[in-house]
Amino acid sequence: MKIIAAITKDRALGRGGDMLYHISEDLKRFKALTMGHPIVMGRKTFESFPKGPLPGRRNLVITRNAGYQREGIEVYPSLEAALAACGEAEPYIIGGGEIYAQALPLASELDITEIDALAPDADTFFPEISPSSWLPTSASPWLSTPSGLRYRFLTYTKI
Ligand SMILES: NC(=O)c1ccc[n+]([C@@H]2O[C@H](COP(=O)([O-])OP(=O)(O)OC[C@H]3O[C@@H](n4cnc5c(N)ncnc54)[C@H](OP(=O)(O)O)[C@@H]3O)[C@@H](O)[C@H]2O)c1
Repeated sequence: MKIIAAITKDRALGRGGDMLYHISEDLKRFKALTMGHPIVMGRKTFESFPKGPLPGRRNLVITRNAGYQREGIEVYPSLEAALAACGEAEPYIIGGGEIYAQALPLASELDITEIDALAPDADTFFPEISPSSWLPTSASPWLSTPSGLRYRFLTYTKI
């Protein structure tokens, strides 16, 4: 199972239920990597999508609310139940902070977009990526948005 996330230098993920930055090249890469794979997410991340479930992918949503139902999604009571439902298909864990923290010990690869910024006022953070467990195995050059925000794509493999 793989994790995909966009994080700042201080591992911030979001604030007020939304992402901190919307970088169009990052959203394109997210789509290219996850298309055709089951995507597993927490209920709050699902509810942050403006247009509902992401097309072309099974959307597996984790909640403790047994009555939760929305069109186009599958609902599971735990990360483990969602992963079991993926069968042979390789899932991507797409957030948010609560789900990343539970998934990190189980993941084999992290696809991280590192944003060259600090966001200490964020309210959701990615867990620590321990150098004793995770090896950076590829890094793109630093890229830049039209407004000058720098970012790069990193892959970490479990040691
Ligand atoms: N930068 C990025 O790449 C990225 C990616 C995704 C999300 N985000 C941001 O992250 C924030 C959302 O993250 P978050 O940590 O607040 O929420 P989240 O992880 O998306 O969802 C949390 C919810 O998941 C359910 N849940 C968590 N653990 C569970 C368990 N063990 N069993 C059953 N249900 C469980 C609960 O739902 P119920 O309350 O319904 O029980 C919980 O409230 C937003 O700001 C979003 O924009 C950023």
